[in-house]
Amino acid sequence: MIASVMMCVSAVLLLIGMLAGVVMGMQQDFTLAPAHAHLNLVGGVLLFMFGLYYRLVPAAGRLAMATVQGSLHIAGAVLFPVGIALVTLKGHSYVVAPIVGSLIVVVATALFVTIVFRTSRS
Ligand code: HEM
Repeated sequence: MIASVMMCVSAVLLLIGMLAGVVMGMQQDFTLAPAHAHLNLVGGVLLFMFGLYYRLVPAAGRLAMATVQGSLHIAGAVLFPVGIALVTLKGHSYVVAPIVGSLIVVVATALFVTIVFRTSRS
């Protein structure tokens, strides 16, 4: 279940990130390039790959920890790039958003490491 949610959300985030890239190119304004890059990589690529692991190794996908990991990663994958965009456009007073977003992603990834170590042989 969490695998499907992760792959569906990541596909949508990737599309949004790509469209943002197209808009940047059309406007020749690359101010938001770091937000675009992190949305595509953390939200598009990583989220899909983690979801794919849970589909590939069902024992991992069934763990409660996988649901926590996937939910945290989705929250961080949105908050992190949005936070980068806020700091870029509105200034340093919004810095808490990318800090919290990035830390959520790091915690989620630490959970993923634990899950992989526990299940990669199954
Ligand atoms: C339709 C698809 C895409 C378009 C039109 C697009 C467009 C762009 C543009 C215009 C830039 C800014 C270039 C510059 O600063 O000179 C950029 C930067 C970047 N893009 Fe994309 N992009 C697309 C997809 C992706 C994907 C799928 C990824 C990663 C999975 C990605 C990762 C990056 C990275 C890492 C940067 C550099 C960011 C930086 O310099 O801060 N892009 N892209």
